[in-house]
Parts: sequence; structure tokens; C-alpha cells
Amino acid sequence: DYTKGVKHLVDTSPDLRLIPAPYILHKPPLIYNPSPLPRSPLISPSIPVIDLDGIDNAITSNRRESAVHDIASACVEWGFFLQIVNHGVKASLMKEMLRVADGFFSLTCEEKMKYASNNVMDPVRYGTSLNTSAPHQLHWRDYLRHFGHPLENSYHLWPENPPNYRSVAKEYLEEIWRLKTKIAGCISESLGLDKDYIEKSLGKGCQIIASNYYPPCPQPHLTLGLAAHSDHGGITILMQNDVDGLQVRYKDIWIPVEYVASSFVVNIGDYIEILSNGRYKSVEHRGLVNKKRTRISIAVGHGPEMTTILAPANELVDEKEKPNYKPIVYKDYIRFQQSSAVRGKTPLEKIM
Ligand code: SIN
Ligand code: FE2
Repeated sequence: DYTKGVKHLVDTSPDLRLIPAPYILHKPPLIYNPSPLPRSPLISPSIPVIDLDGIDNAITSNRRESAVHDIASACVEWGFFLQIVNHGVKASLMKEMLRVADGFFSLTCEEKMKYASNNVMDPVRYGTSLNTSAPHQLHWRDYLRHFGHPLENSYHLWPENPPNYRSVAKEYLEEIWRLKTKIAGCISESLGLDKDYIEKSLGKGCQIIASNYYPPCPQPHLTLGLAAHSDHGGITILMQNDVDGLQVRYKDIWIPVEYVASSFVVNIGDYIEILSNGRYKSVEHRGLVNKKRTRISIAVGHGPEMTTILAPANELVDEKEKPNYKPIVYKDYIRFQQSSAVRGKTPLEKIM
């Protein structure tokens, strides 16, 4: 019974040498890099690092200028960046969040299954493989997803165990919401828009936390933890434990994102690609698994209110630059994206 998840599968089969057939992908990951690529930028490009230190301080306004400039080039070239310095979230809170997520996955199957759901719009969902109700090849991942901000809508539905899950996740999600606002300000300015343009367009906004649990896999080259996809929202802020696995598509190759302590990996999603009329690209990424250690990642996505119509910013289109995307209601876009088992950037391409 694969619906109980891969952690359950691994825990109950200590001698597992071969992965069950449903996990063997027709198209296994072509490049499995057990060791990181050489770091020299000449040989292997690496994810840009952005420093937000002093960006809201009038005395050091040149810092803001350079951060905005760096974010613009990261978004054009990569759609991804690493945010290490002065993100304002305490390392102790980051660790605590990883601990309660781990604690959730360590609950009994019966308890986790209380949160199981096949409806991609449910406010809290425990599940395994991809986040879709459509039939698909299985992936080596268990997940817990739920809404964050605005908290009053879903807080009472979040997991009750481990006992401090709710209080830690609440504090973490509030901090991440603030960090997102800072980054949204820089992205808005980098597009030549008012600093609060993106923040305003989010309205009350929507925040979704997805905690991913990837247990050791005896045949990691035959499967994936998470299929290549782009995120549907605007700004995703991701934290991971010290186990590598995330890869970003750069031109035609997959670049591993190496773990850096106390840092966040930030990426833009389809909503910002659309808003920017395609100047910035939401980039595909995927998760590999490995033989030895459990990888945990916690991604927090931020998008607009569900009823918002996604469309390029008026300020960025004119007679010369026509809109490159057809308007679509955010909720319909999410449903459309998540009810398809085909990933990559296909959903976005359908509205171009
Ligand atoms: C994600 O794309 O949501 C997370 C991928 C990862 O596990 O790093
Ligand atoms: Fe993602």
C-alpha cells in the first residue's frame, strides 16, 4: 500500500535493495551527481548570492541599489538565488522548524493519515509522491502542505502533533512572510515598478508551506524525490537540512544547489514570470534522492489571493511590448497545474 508513504515503506522493509516498480521512472534523472560539480565559476556556474544587509537603511542606500541590481541579474539569468546574509530569521527558529517537521513525519501512520487528502485545494494535506490527484508514476517523497498567512483561515486545522508544531510553524511562517515582503520590494524596484507594487498585487496574499521528507533510497538513479517543475506562486523561500538534492535547470543542464548553513534558497514562480511579462523566468527545479541520508526541505510559497487574475503588469506592456500571457484566475491556474501529472513548465506554456 504505497499511499502510506515512502518513510513507511523504508521503515517497514529494512532489507530493501530494489525499489518497487511503481517508483522506477520511465525517464530516470539523466545526470545523477553523487558529488557536487567543481565550484570554479569557469567550469560550473553557481547560484548567485544576494546580501540584504542594510538595504532598508537610508544612510547605506547604495546597498539597496546593489542588492536590487544583483536580484535583477539573478532573476534574468537564473530565476534563483541564495540568500544568506541578514535575512532576519534566527538560526534557532530555522532549526526548530526543521525539528517539528521531522517530528510530524515521525508520527504513526494512523496519525499522519488523519491529514491525508486528494483535493489539492484542501488547507492541510499529508501525502506522498507528487502533489496531484491525477495518476502518475510514484516519486520518493512524503509531504505535508498547509496554508500559512492569513493564519486565521487555517491555523486551527494544522497538525496538533508534535505538540509544539503549531507554535513553531506560526512563528516561522510570520518571519518568512516578512522576509518575502523585503524581497518583493527589491524585485518590484528591479522591474522599474514602485517598491510596494508586488506586495500590493498580492492583496491579502496566500502562503503555502510544503515540508518534504525524502528517506534514503536504495536506487536513487532510477527515481526522483520531486519531478522537475516551476512554482505557481511568486516568491518561494526554501530551507533544507544538510543533505543535498535540489537541482536547478540552467540552460540545458541541472546544477546542484549546495547546502549552505543558515541560508535560504529563494526562487521566483510563475506568478512573477507573468507579472514581469516574461522578463524574469520561473525556473524549473527538481529533487534527487540518495542512498544514505534522509533529506528534509521546507518550501514556503507566496502568491496572491486565490481570486486574483494573473496578468502582466500594465506598466510593463505597451504598443511595442504586447502581453505574453493570457489572463487566468490564480485559483484556476493552481488547479490546472496541480491536477496535471505532467510537470516542467507545461502549465505556464499553455497560457502563453
Ligand atoms: C520544492 O520544489 O518545493 C522543493 C524542492 C526541494 O526539496 O528542495
Ligand atoms: Fe518548487
